[in-house]
Amino acid sequence: MTNKLRYFIGNWKMFGDFSSIKIIHQIHRFCLKYKNINKKNKIILCVPNTLINYFSKKGKSKFVVIGAQNCHYKNFYGPFTGSVSASMLKTAGAKYVILGHSENRREGDTNQLIKEKIKFALNNGLYVIFCVGETLKQKKQGKTFSVLNNQILSSINKSFNLKKILIAYEPIWSIGTGKISKNDDLIKIFKFIKKNFKKKFRTRKFPIVLYGGSVNEKNIRNFSTILDIDGFLIGGASQSSKKFIDIIKNYYK
Ligand code: PGA
Repeated sequence: MTNKLRYFIGNWKMFGDFSSIKIIHQIHRFCLKYKNINKKNKIILCVPNTLINYFSKKGKSKFVVIGAQNCHYKNFYGPFTGSVSASMLKTAGAKYVILGHSENRREGDTNQLIKEKIKFALNNGLYVIFCVGETLKQKKQGKTFSVLNNQILSSINKSFNLKKILIAYEPIWSIGTGKISKNDDLIKIFKFIKKNFKKKFRTRKFPIVLYGGSVNEKNIRNFSTILDIDGFLIGGASQSSKKFIDIIKNYYK
């Protein structure tokens, strides 16, 4: 059920300026030095919109792909102050976009809006990193599986280009808290997401499923024992090239 390629995706959130391009250069140098490791990896940095174009042009690296963190639910242009559409992100140079992050759900993103966003992101040729996850309360009530099922079924349509959707399982209580799920729980959840997705959408292959929530260079070894985890969505620790590189190194130790 594993997909051999491993994804290390940075979610910079509201962090970074033009000088942060040095992070890309450092990761690029690491990839050049450890070519063998990095043949197995896909490294994507989802940066603020203000940096997408600059990084795509000036940070050009065959190892580091640039992505965005959200987009509007309408395509192209429109009277939506402060918003950016999937087509605009694509033009700016993004190849991926994170959608459905809990920080955006908290600000009003519903499953239905996320579905529209996924549709337009895919229509514009972007890969989608689709975040799902339960709250602590839902976990305690034993609702994790039903929450995940509902989030996935409500925002994905069979007619979508499913090969371009990566699912990121991010328990909300784990994001930025240092708290991590038990391995036994993760194993069950990853199997559930993969099997359920394959069955419901009748895909030939299992989807790519990532883990996100407090991943760092110290706890990454623990995750590497769970083969169904195809990669990681890394927030805080991706804002430092050293930590991000150490996560990749330690994953293979
Ligand atoms: P974190 O964030 O690694 O800082 O917990 C993960 C995320 O929000 O995607």
